[in-house]
Amino acid sequence: MNDALLAAATSAFPTDLPAITLGAVTHAGAIDPQPLVRLPLAMMTRHGLIAGATGTGKTKTLQLMAEQLSAQGVPVFLADVKGDVGGIAMAGTAHPRIDERAKATGYTWQPTAFPVELLSLTGRTGGQLRATVSDFGPLLMAKVLGLNETQSSVLALVFKYCDDKGLLLLDLSDLREVLQYLSEDGAAELKDYGGMSKATVGVLLRNIIGLESQGADTFFGEPAFDLNDLLSVERDGRGLVSVLSLSDVQDKPALFSTFMLWMLAELYAMLPEVGDLAKPKLVFFFDEAHLLFDEASKSMRDEIEKVVRLVRSKGVGIFFITQHPRDIPETVLGQLGNRVQHALRAFTPDDEKQLRSTARTIPKTDFYDIEAILTSLGTGEALVSTLTAKGTPTQPFACHLVPPSSRMGPLTPDEIAPRLTTPQARKYATAVDRDSAREMLERKHAAAEQAAAAEAAVAANVKAKAAPTATGAREEESALGSFLRSPVARTIAVTIAGTLTRTLLGALTGKRRR
Ligand SMILES: Nc1ncnc2c1ncn2[C@@H]1O[C@H](COP(=O)(O)OP(=O)(O)OP(=O)(O)O)[C@@H](O)[C@H]1O
Ligand SMILES: [Mg+2]
Repeated sequence: MNDALLAAATSAFPTDLPAITLGAVTHAGAIDPQPLVRLPLAMMTRHGLIAGATGTGKTKTLQLMAEQLSAQGVPVFLADVKGDVGGIAMAGTAHPRIDERAKATGYTWQPTAFPVELLSLTGRTGGQLRATVSDFGPLLMAKVLGLNETQSSVLALVFKYCDDKGLLLLDLSDLREVLQYLSEDGAAELKDYGGMSKATVGVLLRNIIGLESQGADTFFGEPAFDLNDLLSVERDGRGLVSVLSLSDVQDKPALFSTFMLWMLAELYAMLPEVGDLAKPKLVFFFDEAHLLFDEASKSMRDEIEKVVRLVRSKGVGIFFITQHPRDIPETVLGQLGNRVQHALRAFTPDDEKQLRSTARTIPKTDFYDIEAILTSLGTGEALVSTLTAKGTPTQPFACHLVPPSSRMGPLTPDEIAPRLTTPQARKYATAVDRDSAREMLERKHAAAEQAAAAEAAVAANVKAKAAPTATGAREEESALGSFLRSPVARTIAVTIAGTLTRTLLGALTGKRRR
């Protein structure tokens, strides 16, 4: 192989830094097992992109990276969209194709199972992942509901209204009840919130009812998932791999991509500043990342850009996996320092355009014709540029990736079953319905009805005895007044008053610091 190329690779990938091994350098059809293409652990918080056409090996790259991170004590979170990464919990089985890949790359292949905790949004394919509506916040909720800008701003006002009135939004029924109230008995309260029309509130109400009927009520409420659970390291020193299994909600991409964004924003809000670490606290893999940005509003994109930029200093690395770099907005793409670009197709004029635009995002090299190599890479091969210890991108090297050590494929139902009753899964199994907006409004409604009944009785009395008494309106007001002075309302008001310091990501998560 070209000596200058090998010399360049040797200086690009020093062996004395803790790193994960991606594979061996290939050039003009030859594979050289020395030096190996490596990605330093310290550079994983500079984020990355794994891209390439369908079937080129993106998910296996994610898998082999996740395995090696776990082996070196780094917890990993990954989204398993198609159900084909769960196998990371089982040791791989020998196969001539794996043998051949291990030999070609000079990599010692050892079948290994990794410590895995399964999560899911339905509780069926993993422990129940849950968030409260208020933690989720208006921006993410608007994304889930597919609202336009006007509707989104009305939803934000509804959250503000609940803040002001001490109405706690925990599950979808709380939000539904508030919208119901504002579109009926409470319609008069809208006048204090400019721009909230009864008609738009009605639209939001129908949207929430639609979302509930799709079964989304299971993932909103309490107990909310504690993101600290993602940061576990096993007793043997290996990082936990949390696999969010999404095969059961594949048809609701807006929902699960928003959920993952919520997780990132929560992590950001929860973790302390740590600056540059020798190895990350957590690496987050976002498969099918285009779903996150599809139809995302400008404010949503801005927030994603912010989270990605800032979460780095909290020791969290993010890798986006998608077919084409163009799926990721420029401002985010610019922050993804490590690149693993699998093969691209060039069948149609549009493919060619994408190819040229991808080639432009790859650092310059004297050794490869980038457009030519991108269309000729085989399965499980990629053009790789990682960050050096100094934080500068290496030249791109074509790389034959090592095989994953765990199973390349799904878990069977028998293998999933015991993972649904782990202590962690049990912690979140049962939803708790605490006193919140729905119950409060129901009591208010009941009080108003009582007041109305009392008024009717009084009126009847007046007629009978012609004696004056308190007006119904004042009765109703005092019913609300006594409700607001009740211990429950007071607790809620205290919770909210202490939490109005919204963090930078407050807009995104509707976060109230507790
Ligand atoms: N590093 C690797 N080691 C061994 N086999 C691999 C590797 N990468 C890819 N393969 C082979 O290629 C197949 C396709 O890979 P993979 O599922 O990762 O593609 P993908 O890019 O994620 O596809 P899609 O876009 O459809 O999700 C795998 O099933 C496996 O047989
Ligand atoms: Mg895939």
